[in-house]
Amino acid sequence: MVTKIHHVGIVVERLDRAYGFWRDTLGLPLVRQAEIPDQGVRAALLAAGESEIELLEPTTPDNGVARFLARRGEGLHHVCFETPDVDAALGGLRAEAVPLLDERARQGLAGRIAFLSPAACHGVLVELATPPHGTQSQDSPVRLKRLVIGCREPHAAARSYQRLFGLPEVAINGGARCMLGWEGGGTLLMVPAAEVGDVEGMVALSMVAPEMAPLAERLQRAAAAMLVGAAEVTVEPRSSHGVHLHISRYHFP
Ligand code: CO
Repeated sequence: MVTKIHHVGIVVERLDRAYGFWRDTLGLPLVRQAEIPDQGVRAALLAAGESEIELLEPTTPDNGVARFLARRGEGLHHVCFETPDVDAALGGLRAEAVPLLDERARQGLAGRIAFLSPAACHGVLVELATPPHGTQSQDSPVRLKRLVIGCREPHAAARSYQRLFGLPEVAINGGARCMLGWEGGGTLLMVPAAEVGDVEGMVALSMVAPEMAPLAERLQRAAAAMLVGAAEVTVEPRSSHGVHLHISRYHFP
């Protein structure tokens, strides 16, 4: 039913400031920016390999994004899966009485979109999107690889994601952990909440870059708070708009 992670949504205080890190320092190309008045947000999509990063700034105080920002500060907000027919997907979910935020699909930045209730997905806010012409992989110096989700019971959570979205399982030998998704299309790594500070929901984002040296140099120039390893960088949330961000080296075929 779904074919890849279309984007990961991040709530930020100010879009123009978030560009400083996500577009200028990481180098993710801007795909599209728009005001969405009926949602009370200003939003942007940035290319990150096969997937995208969506930045969301609230422009009115009385919507879900503004409430999220007031309550939790900047950070990971939702994950969006691409589907060839969001209306059909929504119909199927409705028939199974899956709790939805949008009973009907509507126009969003990523195309025709709809949100499920976080109650449907173990506390994670999930969006489905059908882009007008599909999305192509875009050249970007850093690519989305994996979203880490803290779960009370990772295996139970994985089973419900498989049931709701048909997400394939990616083999890992992780015991308590589960991985779903697509190598190349983005994966979800479900880990026990106890491993990630007792947090349920999205806790971290992993990305890959073919070359670490120029990236580390750009991060250093931007005075980003980070830990630099031999082939990886971990950026602290205060420098990446609330996101625990891990970037490692990846050799492209
Ligand atoms: Co979105």
